[in-house]
Amino acid sequence: MKCNFTVFRFDPADDDTPRYQEYTVDAEPTDKILDCLNKIRWEQDPTLAYRASCSHGICGSDAVTINGHVGLACQKLVRDYKTANNFVIEPLPLFEVIKDLVVDMDPFFDKHRYVRPYLISDDDPPEKERLQSAEDQDIIEPALRCILCAACTSTCPISRANPDYVGPAALLRAFRYVYDSRDTATGSRLAQLNSEDGAWGCKTMWWCTDVCPKGIPVTRCIGQIKRAIRQEKKNA
Ligand code: SF4
Ligand code: FES
Repeated sequence: MKCNFTVFRFDPADDDTPRYQEYTVDAEPTDKILDCLNKIRWEQDPTLAYRASCSHGICGSDAVTINGHVGLACQKLVRDYKTANNFVIEPLPLFEVIKDLVVDMDPFFDKHRYVRPYLISDDDPPEKERLQSAEDQDIIEPALRCILCAACTSTCPISRANPDYVGPAALLRAFRYVYDSRDTATGSRLAQLNSEDGAWGCKTMWWCTDVCPKGIPVTRCIGQIKRAIRQEKKNA
């Protein structure tokens, strides 16, 4: 069937303002939106820029806005949209456009680095690896599924209003280490997150949870950080 794609185009090096370009793609209902973008680039217009790699919801590189909703182009199918085969494809909101659907992810990864996304342990290094029980790993399991696609952070209304807010994806990563039984930096991690630019910036709007392509309860995990901060204060 014929599908109409209206695609955001902007090359800051050449264009004064963004524009939208129309393409018609022959697609099956089971085709991914990424398949359609590939058909556009491979068969019609090699100048169209977008990111993608794995095509299977693993690498997190192809989050875009599809008919007003953020999602992974490789996870969303043509048949998922009841829009009479009309699609509007735009870049992720929040981030600066580098070209067409490619946005500058540096601010996103800066915030990710800010929360120290690695294990910190004062314990002596073990002979092989730092083990934890299955029960302890279950606590942090939701956060292990994160593919850093930025769908949550780009959708979050607080991130849009406050550029200093660390955002849901970075908070989820912080949760992963705050609740990791092997990490010994819990106190300093919680102190770092105890601000309006940290965990308290979250106003529990659930948009991040709704949009997450991996089904991660992001808002709930941020709530667990807030609880840990309160508990830390009580214990002080
Ligand atoms: Fe993407 Fe979900 Fe991770 Fe946010 S929490 S970056 S939406 S996978
Ligand atoms: Fe890797 Fe979509 S291309 S997640």
